[in-house]
Amino acid sequence: MNKYQGCFIENSVYKTKRLIILFCILRVRGISLLQRANDLAAIVRKSSEIHIVTHIDADGITAGAIASETLRRLGKEYSLECIKQLDEVTINKLLNENHELVWFTDLGSGISTQYPEIKKIITDHHECPPNSDTSFHFNPHLFGRDGSYELSGAGATYLVSKALSPKNKDLSCLAIVGAIGDLQDRRFCELRGMNTEIVKDGVEAGVLQTSKDLRYFGKETRPLAKLLQYATDPLIPGVSGREDTSVAFLQELQIELKERDKWRTWVDLRKEEKRKIISAVIQMLLSKGFGYQVAARVLGESYLLCHEEEGTELHDAKEYATLLNSTARYGQYEVGLQVCLGDRGKWLKEALNLLSGHRHNLVEGLQFAREEKIQKRTYLQYFHAGDGIRDTIIGIVTNMLLNTEDVDKELPLIGFAHTENGEVKVSARAAQHLVDRGLDLAAALTVAAKELHGIGGGHNIAAGATIPKGKEEEFLQVVEREIKLQLVS
Ligand code: C5P
Ligand code: C5P
Ligand code: ZN
Repeated sequence: MNKYQGCFIENSVYKTKRLIILFCILRVRGISLLQRANDLAAIVRKSSEIHIVTHIDADGITAGAIASETLRRLGKEYSLECIKQLDEVTINKLLNENHELVWFTDLGSGISTQYPEIKKIITDHHECPPNSDTSFHFNPHLFGRDGSYELSGAGATYLVSKALSPKNKDLSCLAIVGAIGDLQDRRFCELRGMNTEIVKDGVEAGVLQTSKDLRYFGKETRPLAKLLQYATDPLIPGVSGREDTSVAFLQELQIELKERDKWRTWVDLRKEEKRKIISAVIQMLLSKGFGYQVAARVLGESYLLCHEEEGTELHDAKEYATLLNSTARYGQYEVGLQVCLGDRGKWLKEALNLLSGHRHNLVEGLQFAREEKIQKRTYLQYFHAGDGIRDTIIGIVTNMLLNTEDVDKELPLIGFAHTENGEVKVSARAAQHLVDRGLDLAAALTVAAKELHGIGGGHNIAAGATIPKGKEEEFLQVVEREIKLQLVS
């Protein structure tokens, strides 16, 4: 073991101790997550007008949909807005609007002790400052749980919704779409922590079904060759990345690619055909020396929405989440929200139109990022997309880039992109093994953004920030300083 790894391990032992102490304090004070959910539910019951503020990603939209549907069922007056991040502009607007209650979903953990003028409840899962444990803040981090994989923003919102009425259990499938949209199943190839309670609710309510299956994206709608061409985590050596190699791979296995003039998808295959492909992929990985742990990642839990039609973009939680990401990230949150609330007519049609644009932007964005040279430093690597990639999808592109074969997984990856307000959006992503050794990107980006009069936050494995233009170099220096400190503390 090298010195670098040793520091990470010491740091994570220290962190585990801190979490145990925090957990014990909360247990002694007798606060449980369930009780906190009940406290928030009581505040909702007493309010007649509620304004929901949520985030623009799939987790944010599903969280917003759960909150709105819950309030609709209660007969409350409610409104909703979807934002990129909780900045001064939003706060000032809220201060002026003077709502009876503001419900922050999938964001807000950083302001739990601020702005007492805004009467609020918060259902979030982002890391929060040490003093954030207020009676109206529901967040897994306050209870010694990790919000990067144990509960999403939609999950936290759902647990409060369930506390308001057990009849809301049907909304659990939206909470699962939110968790999957945030890649909460990535660490263990299945959902864990409080997410499993939500899965159980969904199965019991007859809205969700789980199955052990191939983990690749697009099992319902992607033609088979495309499914393998775009396969990442794990990449299939010699197959992923090109259409001709995926076609050849499938032909060698004697899999028909078309049926009655229609491209076959994974869900069209017979059991034996699926088995044949899975074992060939695993075999390929093992024969190229990838080891059992990597090969095992080919399989995992899939989460299916029972009331949706098989072979559509809404049946599998992964594809549903991508459909939602195609809406609010392009300023069209109403489209995603209405789909979540059950529209299968004009809003779904619009969402599907937006989806093709989103797919195109991701392919182009990844291509653009690959052409920009990644700059390596001691504790991180970065690329600057300038105006080449939208600020609202730079996080997804950074994630995809870190998953590609030729990018170093030993360093966190930072992506910069210009925003339409003349600022710079930062997205940071790291591999799980760095987090296991003590890396915390949210902590590093929060400090660095604050020093440069910006705002930042997120999770240990994935964090973001907005900083003034021209401050990128200073920002990188502070982030490196913080990462170094995380390794030695
Ligand atoms: O804003 P929010 O918390 O909803 O977003 C979580 C982000 O963390 C997502 O962009 C997701 O891609 C990222 N993430 C990740 N790997 C994980 C868990 C989350 O990249 N294992
Ligand atoms: O925007 P991006 O996907 O890179 O964000 C990664 C994570 O950091 C998300 O969970 C997001 O909500 C969070 N974030 C934050 N504060 C910011 C920007 C991003 O908490 N200013
Ligand atoms: Zn989230």
